[in-house]
Amino acid sequence: MANSSRIQNVVPRPGFSALHRLRKKRKGQRVKDPLDDLLLKTLTSQRAMEERFLQMEERRFQRDLDVEERRMQLEQRRFELEREHEFRMFNVFAQMLSILKQSHSGSSSSLAMPRGLDFSQALSEIAGMGGGGGGDLQELRARPLTERRVDMHGFCNPGDFQRSPYLSARGNIANVFRGSTEEGYKAYHADKYDEDKNPNGIINFGTSENKLCFDLMSKRLTQTDMNLMEPPLLQYPDWKGHMFLREEVARFLTYYCKAPAPLKAENVIVLNGCGSLFSALATVLCDPGEAVLIATPFYGGITQSVFLYGNVKLVYAYLDSKITGTSTRPFQLTVEKLEKALQDARAEGVTVRALILLNPQNPLGDIYSLSELRDYLEFAKRHELHVIVDEIYMLSVFDESATFHSVLGMDRLPDPQRTHVMWGISKDFAVSGIRFGTLYTENQDVANAVGSLCYFHGVCGPVQHKVAQLLRDRDWINQVYLRANHARLKAAHTYVTDELKTLGVPFLNRNAGFFVWIDFRKYLRTGTFEEEMLLWRRFLDNKVLLSCGKAFECSEPGWFRIIFADKTHRLQLGMQRIRKVLEEREQEILAEEKEQPCQSDQDGKADSTDEVIFVSRHQEPTCAGSSNLGDLIGLLQQQMRSSDWLQKNTAEQFAQEKPEIYDVFSKLVGKQ
Ligand SMILES: Cc1ncc(COP(=O)(O)O)c(C=O)c1O
Repeated sequence: MANSSRIQNVVPRPGFSALHRLRKKRKGQRVKDPLDDLLLKTLTSQRAMEERFLQMEERRFQRDLDVEERRMQLEQRRFELEREHEFRMFNVFAQMLSILKQSHSGSSSSLAMPRGLDFSQALSEIAGMGGGGGGDLQELRARPLTERRVDMHGFCNPGDFQRSPYLSARGNIANVFRGSTEEGYKAYHADKYDEDKNPNGIINFGTSENKLCFDLMSKRLTQTDMNLMEPPLLQYPDWKGHMFLREEVARFLTYYCKAPAPLKAENVIVLNGCGSLFSALATVLCDPGEAVLIATPFYGGITQSVFLYGNVKLVYAYLDSKITGTSTRPFQLTVEKLEKALQDARAEGVTVRALILLNPQNPLGDIYSLSELRDYLEFAKRHELHVIVDEIYMLSVFDESATFHSVLGMDRLPDPQRTHVMWGISKDFAVSGIRFGTLYTENQDVANAVGSLCYFHGVCGPVQHKVAQLLRDRDWINQVYLRANHARLKAAHTYVTDELKTLGVPFLNRNAGFFVWIDFRKYLRTGTFEEEMLLWRRFLDNKVLLSCGKAFECSEPGWFRIIFADKTHRLQLGMQRIRKVLEEREQEILAEEKEQPCQSDQDGKADSTDEVIFVSRHQEPTCAGSSNLGDLIGLLQQQMRSSDWLQKNTAEQFAQEKPEIYDVFSKLVGKQ
């Protein structure tokens, strides 16, 4: 109707009446007038034109109607999308609030690894991680494992999280997985210190390498007996390693581990490093999602080794600097602590299959006594746990006053079928670039299973020959190499620890390994891992790379590891740079304390002695730790950019997954 009335306004009517009149006139007149004919034709064509015009108008109107309808549909869709977007924002806001709540209650970062390899699960866990906060160990321990979110802060940068369409879920995790030391390691390789070519480059006190014996090793490894190229060395070997090498390893370990009876070559497996060995053992001893028990702080590379291939996680027994209960030294491993960690994990349904022992311990430098070793092994036997004993630093005990006891040297192993010992040449022979590690196990099932995986981790034939030659040369090892190596390690250790004493910095005074475990807590404004990270970055900005405690999953923020096995000129320059940072920090903290007297807790700081440090009181966090909102915002930005994420994460899905949040949101929307 509206249509026709509108058309009436547009189209003049007179044409119709003129035609009508003409027809009437023609009916009356019989005589044909040529003018009439012409008029008739004109009027007929005018009418046709008008009708055509009307049709076009009608079509245009219909089009307008369609457009209007589409516009309304679009508006409705836009409204819906806006609601979904609002809901996502609301959901993120709720997450932020919970993070803030946690950091206010002093929660620390979580310490368990993800249970499965589900990417979205890992992503959401990382998105929700506490990432630092204060060092409230009691609270951290009290939280159930299942509630402790994944702290992959050191391993994954949530800002990097963008699912690659080319990779599986597992591949995506490997893609974004960042080793705890990767950032510093990359920075170092991009800007290495060189006395002549790059004197302002980074000094590396972060990577656990012995840089004191290149002269001795390169000389020995280039002697003529090392160069053999016989056909068997150029062909596929036995995957467990050539027998000549396994025999040599068995003799070597029998001698240096002081085994009560000769160790057997058939129990030896060789592969390309202890890192690979951790992967292989975790894979053959645990199913995906199962766990291995380890005391923190520990060499962080193990996390990567056991998780990336085997999807095996770590359960932590937390050690701390306080000397309490039966402990007599800071960070002491006791059976009590192992029992507690195991029981907590079991209570939460986590299946723990094995215990990892590092002896000498990295980063603490502790050497376990025979009775301690026996206690740990008995504990494992009681709970039917395998024990993986990593003795990779066994020949790097540089002071005669300290005695190393290998598990292989014990008269009797409590559970020989579940005891597996590893060693390698990276550390003790200062050749981490030659990839070689070895496993000794009496359990032939374990040996065969690891042997199958050795296909992926083999050592090339010519290197197997060189290693056999090296291990065979007992005179050179004892008379030349170890003497020089130990003297050099001792001198370097003395230099660094003397510097630390001058600076008044507490540290653990040990005599094994390449590291000193240092207490820099007094240089943190607050007892948080964020502050620890800031200090770490400050060192790096001043061109000295250290490892911070978080990289070892230390439960107390503020501890750092320095590698001292380096040449004097680099030690001097590195310590100079460290001193500069610490002095600046001290000034800043003093200035801040003048402005805000609430900040630090002098009584809680550690004091040191020559032997070990003693911590009078645990430094409690004085201020709430900042949350990792920055990370969350980074993650949010990634999500916004990823259309895939937006499509998958609809309000309906949220409503199902998080009904409580959806409920609050709906009520708020209702009030708008
Ligand atoms: C305790 C410990 N185990 C194993 C490794 C890795 O050794 P490899 O070079 O044989 O892979 C390291 C390296 O730092 C380590 O400190």
